[in-house]
Amino acid sequence: MTTPLHLWRNARLVTLDGPRGWGLVEGGALLVGGDRLHWVGPMAELNRSGSAGPDIVAEHDLGGALVTPGLVDCHTHLVYGGQRAQEFEARLNGASYEDIAKAGGGIRSTMAATRAASGDELFASAAQRARGFMAEGVTTMEIKSGYGLNEADEARCLTVARRLGRELSLGVRTTSLGAHALPPEFEGRPDDYIAAVCRWLPAQQAAGLVDAVDAFCDRIGFTPAQTRRVFEAAQALGLPVKLHAEQLSDQQGAVLAAEFKALSCDHLEHLSPAGVQAMAAAGTVAVLLPGACYFLRDTTLPPVQALRDAGVPMAVASDHNPGSCPTGSLRLMLNMACTLFRLTPEEALRGATTVGALALGLHDRGVLRAGLRADFAVWDLSHPSELAYGFGGNPCRRVVAGGVER
Ligand code: NIG
Ligand code: FE
Repeated sequence: MTTPLHLWRNARLVTLDGPRGWGLVEGGALLVGGDRLHWVGPMAELNRSGSAGPDIVAEHDLGGALVTPGLVDCHTHLVYGGQRAQEFEARLNGASYEDIAKAGGGIRSTMAATRAASGDELFASAAQRARGFMAEGVTTMEIKSGYGLNEADEARCLTVARRLGRELSLGVRTTSLGAHALPPEFEGRPDDYIAAVCRWLPAQQAAGLVDAVDAFCDRIGFTPAQTRRVFEAAQALGLPVKLHAEQLSDQQGAVLAAEFKALSCDHLEHLSPAGVQAMAAAGTVAVLLPGACYFLRDTTLPPVQALRDAGVPMAVASDHNPGSCPTGSLRLMLNMACTLFRLTPEEALRGATTVGALALGLHDRGVLRAGLRADFAVWDLSHPSELAYGFGGNPCRRVVAGGVER
């Protein structure tokens, strides 16, 4: 028995297939069977190859529109209660992000609002945010915990993230970030809290709630020694690790993460040359988060040229969270990655597709190629560089996720 195929024709395909270049295919077509791309290439070749035929059950004319792989947002904190606009005001009145955190605000204030919210409330607010990203072409999102900060509430947030993946037309990867901040009940006892975080992991894994483990290694987060303990616990369970590394200061977190063959190190404004080399050797992806850098008005930028020279793959993600990056747009992050960090538009788009997928350990998406997932976005644009060039407005016209149009 053959799979019924859908033909999407008359497109300008941005396949991103191959190590560099846009992989442009004019007059392109996609054959979709189930949730997979069955065939990708120029329409004329399809007619010659005989891949088209009686198995095609439906045809969709894209009218010459630009088609890219579905966008992958590989770093978000999407599930939480409340908002932090008052902290934004406080920062404009002179307080720093670190001052606010040390005074019990910041992540702890979101923790309180998250614990107070019901599961349905957390789901509803996160779903609304997710739909905004999805309308701009996002087909895969990573979602971290990290605002529950106790066993039950961390599990609850991860459960909400899994439910988003089941109920929305969105691929969701979950990351356990218990080591995000010290909850008040462990004040003065960070090592005890880390021991608790490590104890929760097996149950989270057994419940199918976790794809990776993350930590916040910084002055207002946890020390490298504490981070190491979390990584050891993850490693013992066979779970891959990621790290919020070198965001506010250089803790040599990237060197530590590389030792554990981390999938990614994220933020990296204060990354050292040793960190760059360690990431290159370990094959760790650098996840750049220009929205957080912008919103916190950080004047230190990640060492993009050094990462490029060392061959470290660079992803671009939203870091959506209520404190350091309350954005609703991954496309805006592509623009900021270029204007603030000097990525090229091609690097930015690869960062939010091919490389974003790598940062999640996914090899089945992020490129338009036969055999991979049929995740793609249709844009009212004529050239792919326009994706990073414009900011504001939404040129995304149609989205197909797992072979199905949303
Ligand atoms: O990725 N740096 C740590 N975590 C988040 C911010 C969390 C918050 O302020 O609520 C980040 O920037
Ligand atoms: Fe983050």
